[in-house]
Amino acid sequence: MNDRTRRFAGKRALVTGAAGGIGTAISRRIASEGASLLVTDCASDALQNLADELGARAIPGDLSIPGACREIVESATSDGPLDLLVNNAGINRRGDILAISEEDWGDSFAVNIDAMFHLCRAALPGMIANGGGAIVNIASQWGLHPAPGHIAYNVTKAAVASFTQNLARDMAPRKIRVNAVCPGEIHTDMLRAGMARSGRTKADMDALIPYGRIGEPEEVAALVAFLASDEAAFMCGSLVEITGAQAVA
Ligand SMILES: NC(=O)c1ccc[n+]([C@@H]2O[C@H](COP(=O)([O-])OP(=O)(O)OC[C@H]3O[C@@H](n4cnc5c(N)ncnc54)[C@H](O)[C@@H]3O)[C@@H](O)[C@H]2O)c1
Repeated sequence: MNDRTRRFAGKRALVTGAAGGIGTAISRRIASEGASLLVTDCASDALQNLADELGARAIPGDLSIPGACREIVESATSDGPLDLLVNNAGINRRGDILAISEEDWGDSFAVNIDAMFHLCRAALPGMIANGGGAIVNIASQWGLHPAPGHIAYNVTKAAVASFTQNLARDMAPRKIRVNAVCPGEIHTDMLRAGMARSGRTKADMDALIPYGRIGEPEEVAALVAFLASDEAAFMCGSLVEITGAQAVA
């Protein structure tokens, strides 16, 4: 492999939600490019399997608990500060304001945005002391253009977009680059759960996308790896959509 395909050699990276569809693809991509990888998820068996596959270190934990977020970063940085943090874990609880339960509303905030705050706050001092780093957050197209009937998801993903821009502005002088990707429909368990509820098939989903098909987790991972790498050195505070030209209706 040449230098261009080993963009993370010598870098320490933590990926959250690593046991899920997009998180696994990001973890595989970053590990294949030479990172010293740390992976976290609450699905501890799947997480350990992935860690074994990639020679990564698994740090299981529930990101809805602020103390657990801090402990995960503490464990991840026990051998040195992070160069890269990928905030990928997320949940999609359905319902408009009348239908959604207070529990689902609260859980959505806890996992989708509060965890990002706690993880970043714990990781940043080490990154800053180390001279810089990169953070990539997984937002959603729906945080920019809300789809109907998902108020908790859309509002928390809009918060992720704003959090990304705020953190980028505050941290850029300290050489921390913060960017977000905003995926459209990506072929993972999260999407499959939505398809099962609505009775839509993969072919139905593909037909909604001008490009002719939904996205694959590896395609999001390629974008995350670019934003995380030095090739994106001047990208800071960007919200990058990856949607196959889908417009949310
Ligand atoms: N799939 C899509 O179409 C799509 C579109 C836009 C954005 N996204 C976003 O991409 C990210 C990854 O989604 P995915 O499609 O891979 O979903 P997924 O459901 O396949 O994976 C999510 C992972 O997050 C983990 N997780 C959930 N709650 C957690 C908690 N409290 N503590 C620790 N880990 C927890 C799950 O165990 C799972 O492994 C999410 O932030 C999601 O909102 C997905």
